[in-house]
Amino acid sequence: MTSDEVRKKYINFFKLTPKNHKEISPAPLVPTDDPTTLFTSSGMQQLVPYLTGDPHPEGKRLVNSQPCLRLEDMDKVGDNRHTTFFEMLGNWSLGDYFKEEQLVWFWEFLTKELSLPKEKLWVSVFEGTKEVPKDEESVKIWEKIGVPKERIHFYGVKENWWSRSGPPDKMPVGEIGGPDSEIFFEFTQVKHDPKYGKECHPNCGCGRFLEIGNSVFIEYIKKKDGSLEELPQKNVDFGGGLERTTAAVNNNPDIYQTDLFKPMIEALEKHFDIKYGSEKEVDEMYRTVADHIRASVFLVQFGVKPGNKLQGYVLRRLLRRSATKTYLKDRSFKDKSFDSKKYKLLVRRVIDSYPAFFKGADQEEIEQEIVRELRRFRKTIEQGIKKLEKRMSDKQKIDGKFLFDLHQTYGIPYEVTEEIFQKARGKKLTEKDREEFDKKLESHQELSRTASAGMFKGGLADSSAEVTRLHTATHLLHAALRKVLGEHVQQKGSNITAERLRFDFTHPQKLTEDETKRVEDLVNEQIQKDLPVSFEAINLNKAIKEGALAFFGEKYDQKVKVYTVGDPEGKWFSKEVCGGPHVSSTSEIGRVKIFRQEKIGAGIMRLYAKTE
Ligand code: SER
Repeated sequence: MTSDEVRKKYINFFKLTPKNHKEISPAPLVPTDDPTTLFTSSGMQQLVPYLTGDPHPEGKRLVNSQPCLRLEDMDKVGDNRHTTFFEMLGNWSLGDYFKEEQLVWFWEFLTKELSLPKEKLWVSVFEGTKEVPKDEESVKIWEKIGVPKERIHFYGVKENWWSRSGPPDKMPVGEIGGPDSEIFFEFTQVKHDPKYGKECHPNCGCGRFLEIGNSVFIEYIKKKDGSLEELPQKNVDFGGGLERTTAAVNNNPDIYQTDLFKPMIEALEKHFDIKYGSEKEVDEMYRTVADHIRASVFLVQFGVKPGNKLQGYVLRRLLRRSATKTYLKDRSFKDKSFDSKKYKLLVRRVIDSYPAFFKGADQEEIEQEIVRELRRFRKTIEQGIKKLEKRMSDKQKIDGKFLFDLHQTYGIPYEVTEEIFQKARGKKLTEKDREEFDKKLESHQELSRTASAGMFKGGLADSSAEVTRLHTATHLLHAALRKVLGEHVQQKGSNITAERLRFDFTHPQKLTEDETKRVEDLVNEQIQKDLPVSFEAINLNKAIKEGALAFFGEKYDQKVKVYTVGDPEGKWFSKEVCGGPHVSSTSEIGRVKIFRQEKIGAGIMRLYAKTE
């Protein structure tokens, strides 16, 4: 079965009566107005306000397939089941159905729609803590379904509790989460590897069991005093990896052999002239390249450019890791590892695997962006290698500090330096060098982790008063820019912190002093008028007919929230499709001042503004 068949079957299963779910558009992979996270990493991220009580315009039962990126798995990529990018099949009950329906329906989906053999399915259930009881209810349901006792396993908060920030003690105040119940597929052909512990069990990690679905029962919110409080509504948040489910359906534990990766693996086999499956090291390289390029293609399509910060840095890292892996096989940065034809072919294979998603995409632009970055990397690497060679010919010391500098400044991995060193000097670098290098790398990583703490928690959107004010100010600014500069102005990105808003939009050059003043004045006039801010849930096509701005590729016939500043039926200043939150009247915002602007790309400008 292909991944597309699995995806379609899942969505239809939940859409049709009696399940009656509405299909919603996935959120953009790079969140457009959530500065607290780099990427969308779960389907529920865009639904947080609705899981806590806001009515969703599409109702209480939702389903979709969400492109996700999780950085925490980057180092595990190379085995047969981990990826950075993946697609998550998701269904939600917003205070509607609960455990009974969810577990029975998903079981029905796996065993009837996908015909997975019942005896290969194992489940896990929350064992409870002092604060939250053991999930006996789910056990009863699993038993009623017919899952034998020995295939029901209990785990604690580490395995069977889900929130965007992990177990209860890691949840910040206001964060929601709850116990969950997972389903695993058993690949009977895989034997337990004792490296993972004496006993094999669903979560042991040896690869015999693959988690294919997680039903989270979001029923708690973290309180200021550190305790958990029950939410007024009980929700279901289900997520299952499309790649893994497809692997289970095909009874092949290697997700890289599903149709989503096969075309890329075949291109790599041809290029390197080595069959997949013949050498462990080559398999790992093929998988890493396939995963990283797929993730990169999606990132570029979502507007990310390689750079030294935030999403751009992640994209750069993915591409450089991929090039380094192929280098280690080719033993030369000069030929195959940077072959642009190879990379262009891989890009094309990704695009071809997602025809619906990349419909209308500029394939050449994506190819160019990726190849450009690899060329830049090659230049940097060449400079670094020259530096290394000079140091060697000067008979200067090559120590851990120098190795780390090479890594930091030129992106040269330790293994590459080691190889060049060995070739030139006929001996290996010492253990001490390695230790020193590792120590420096670790402390650097620690530093950058601290600096970016909070950025990786998976969308803990800040709905503080400051951010809310700036959110509405962003709508005003957007409308004012279109009125002053023209209708070519389109939002390309937005990022709000408690201190300022940042707004990216299409426009060829910086605003003149006069234009800046006119935009500011127009925004501040609306604030002084104390206009009401309201929203209604309507169909996207109706919203667009009414003149609402919508730029994020929502499905046309989908119900969306439209925020209006002014009178929705009469004279309004701004109408925009948006999830909120917003202030209720513009006077709450305060005076808006634009304090910086820069050009960030061909035809794209960036403005910074704050309130005074
Ligand atoms: N939010 C849960 C997860 O990401 C289930 O959708 O695993």
